[in-house]
Amino acid sequence: MGVLKSVNELFEYLFYILYIILFYISLKRCFYRDGYGKVRLFFLSLITNPLFVFCGSAFFSTIIVFTRAKSDLGVQAFGNLNLATDQFYGSLIVLITSILSIVLIMPISYLMGKFLKAYNKSMVMFVYIMFSVIIALVDSGNRGSQLPQAAGWLMQISYDISHIVGVITVCLLYLLIMQALSKLSDRRRHMNWKLFLIAPTIFIIVYSILDYYTDSFCSSDANVVVKILSYVICLLFIWAFYVIINNIKATDDAIKAKDEVKTLSVEVMEALAHTIDAKDEYTRGHSVRVAKYSKMLADRLGLSSDECENVYYMALLHDIGKIGVPNEIINSTSRLTDHEYAVIKTHPGVGYDILAEIKSRPDLSIGARWHHERFDGKGYPDGKKGEEIPFFARIIAVADSYDAMTSNRSYRKYLSQDKVRSEIENNAGTQFDPDVAKCMLEIIDQDIDYTLHE
Ligand SMILES: [Fe+2]
Repeated sequence: MGVLKSVNELFEYLFYILYIILFYISLKRCFYRDGYGKVRLFFLSLITNPLFVFCGSAFFSTIIVFTRAKSDLGVQAFGNLNLATDQFYGSLIVLITSILSIVLIMPISYLMGKFLKAYNKSMVMFVYIMFSVIIALVDSGNRGSQLPQAAGWLMQISYDISHIVGVITVCLLYLLIMQALSKLSDRRRHMNWKLFLIAPTIFIIVYSILDYYTDSFCSSDANVVVKILSYVICLLFIWAFYVIINNIKATDDAIKAKDEVKTLSVEVMEALAHTIDAKDEYTRGHSVRVAKYSKMLADRLGLSSDECENVYYMALLHDIGKIGVPNEIINSTSRLTDHEYAVIKTHPGVGYDILAEIKSRPDLSIGARWHHERFDGKGYPDGKKGEEIPFFARIIAVADSYDAMTSNRSYRKYLSQDKVRSEIENNAGTQFDPDVAKCMLEIIDQDIDYTLHE
């Protein structure tokens, strides 16, 4: 039986080594970004490991329990009930440190996620929490042996309570993170969440039963086989978890690919905007500035972040129709003839036709078509009036005019802030939507140093 006990101890050590390696691999495979050395990441994962947090808390609670047992404080507080006081303090401390150690996992995992620049901090939290479930379960059995001899039923109850609180907390966090992750998961590589639910449920039930028997016969060598069996189950659980981690990595890659496509789209849109602006040497940067001002307005008008982003892209491409206007007309320094003016006025329609081709983002064409409409209905190309003009186009119209006044032209320098302000104020309700104009005036008033110009 002595051999079996040694095997049990060896198995325990092997388990912890394997646990640390798997934890490191999980972090590395899911969240590792270039720029962090592997050794550095390994030590980071080592010191922030749930295993160490739990061991730390177990260590401190044991020390405090022993110190308390020898101090007079307990006697002062509870008179003659000496044994009960030791137990009471000990139990309380064990309970508090156990809960604290679970709570500590949250900021640690959050900071790690931030440090590793994870796409989603929930994923890092997820890894930490899953590994802390394993440790909480393994640890609960082991900590019993560290109890002082005086520990009785009260201490046992406090262990049980901390165990239950731990499992409930972890399950709640687990559900929260599941929700966050399921929103992210890519449909084509849908994660099998049922696997997550089945594996821990079976594990918790089987392990708790085995744990109960090993605790009940703790002094006997007869429990060694049961103990080894429980570790085998633990390892199986870790293995299942590792398979799932790989699944998450696939989703992580899908999200990364999605992000890359998004970045590419934005860059293509910006390149297009620069192409249009380059046609006219005096409107360089116009589209990007209009996009920036439109986003500022949308944000101030209380639109959602998605809507603000939409306005930005619409504004970025609002003048794309100018691609169809000859350079001579755009760069003409003399007064435009009626014909030339008529050609210029075609750019909203041309832009609309171009952008309507982008089937995945049909809304992009709104800004192009209606940014020259006026609130009083005297604009072009459709002569829409008031709220008939799409709201986003009314925002872009104000931003467009603001940038036209605050940038240099071949025939003049940008206008003074007072002049721009009064232009917008005077044209609110006629040329501009009064609400949007009011918002623009607020932005101007806050721009004390007049930084918002070309
Ligand atoms: Fe325009």
